[in-house]
Amino acid sequence: MPNPLHGKNIVLGVTGSIAAYKAADLASKLVQAGARVDVVMSENAAHFITPMTFHALTHRPVTTDLFDPHSELAIDHVALGMRADIIVIAPATANTLAKLAAGVADDALTTTVLGTVAPLLVAPAMDAHMYDHPAVQDNLARLRNRGVTIVGPEGGRLASGLMGMGRLTDPEVLVEHIKLVLGRHGDLLGKKVVVSAGGTQEPLDPVRILTNHSSGKQGYAVAEAARDRGAAVTLVTTPVSLRPPVGVRVVRVKSARDMLEAMLDVTNQADIVVMAAAVADYRPVAESDHKIKKSGETISLELAKNPDIIATVNGPFVKIGFAAETEDLLVNAETKLRSKGLHLVAANDVTATDAGFGVDTNRVLLLDRDGKVEELPLLTKYEVGHRILDRALAMVGKQRA
Ligand SMILES: Cc1cc2nc3c(=O)[nH]c(=O)nc-3n(C[C@H](O)[C@H](O)[C@H](O)COP(=O)(O)O)c2cc1C
Repeated sequence: MPNPLHGKNIVLGVTGSIAAYKAADLASKLVQAGARVDVVMSENAAHFITPMTFHALTHRPVTTDLFDPHSELAIDHVALGMRADIIVIAPATANTLAKLAAGVADDALTTTVLGTVAPLLVAPAMDAHMYDHPAVQDNLARLRNRGVTIVGPEGGRLASGLMGMGRLTDPEVLVEHIKLVLGRHGDLLGKKVVVSAGGTQEPLDPVRILTNHSSGKQGYAVAEAARDRGAAVTLVTTPVSLRPPVGVRVVRVKSARDMLEAMLDVTNQADIVVMAAAVADYRPVAESDHKIKKSGETISLELAKNPDIIATVNGPFVKIGFAAETEDLLVNAETKLRSKGLHLVAANDVTATDAGFGVDTNRVLLLDRDGKVEELPLLTKYEVGHRILDRALAMVGKQRA
């Protein structure tokens, strides 16, 4: 499955905010992801950024004037709205929000919004005092009640020099929100997916932990793929240096014991559980209350066995695990599949430089209970996520305990 923006028709509305320059970055990101982007600018937006910028980025005509005889809208004034998969207004000024709330259609953008059944996402940007004004808040509430997705604004330093709410949400994050809206009707709609990710941290003393090289990337990518297909996703994660996908419920844990507790709790109603976390098999027997001081040439660490999360978390869901191996990949993965009661195991050789820990790609074998072995080529971890979810979806409701 390609990324969810591929081939989508997106109308990007740009209005007269100082943040309009950021819409160029958003347009570029959407185009790079394979979307067809039609930019519609308010007349005032052209005081801040030129139509030429968007034309060059999208390779498509940019609409600024509803009555421009060369515009598609002059022939069919709702043409853009009719074919749109989503309309995104970023940045959305206080003025445009008021017009949207009231149903005014006095320019190309507001007319396009009224003439569409596509979902609408607006990202307000304005000075903090404007944002706090009851009129703006009322308009936002009206739009929200009507099912419009409002993203942001964020807090921080504003162009006026004020600190406060009003910054346009980062284009990178807006892209995530757009995917979330577009994915609402995906094939995992109504399904609950739980994913575990990251290496567990086993405390040794107040300043030290035992952990491993897991970056969390594969688990996060599975969560993102499930989100993009409309699933309700819960991500149980240890501290990693990744931003969780937008729209995913995040449960933060550290040790294997924390993770077990969280997993038992959140898998209660799950349809699919993908355990991609790298869980420490052992933890220090005791966590010292004080920092362990330097002493002799060697010291010994006594370790106790951790709970076996994959074997312990059971229920009427499709259960999928990862087997990160350094040798005898297939044999070890098969043993894991049977001994842990998995329906599918994704096995990868973590010694490969283009697969496994830290990198964005992975090469996995998928093994199921019928002995079928599917060898996936080198794929992005996001694509691997989709391939695993394809298999999981085919098993939902048919799996044996
Ligand atoms: C320098 C400058 C920056 C502005 N920035 C914003 C802004 O960030 N948000 C906003 O709501 N209005 C802002 N405005 C005011 C709008 O441009 C004004 O309300 C305009 O009527 C909006 O028209 P539009 O919604 O049709 O684009 C700004 C005005 C100026 C002169």
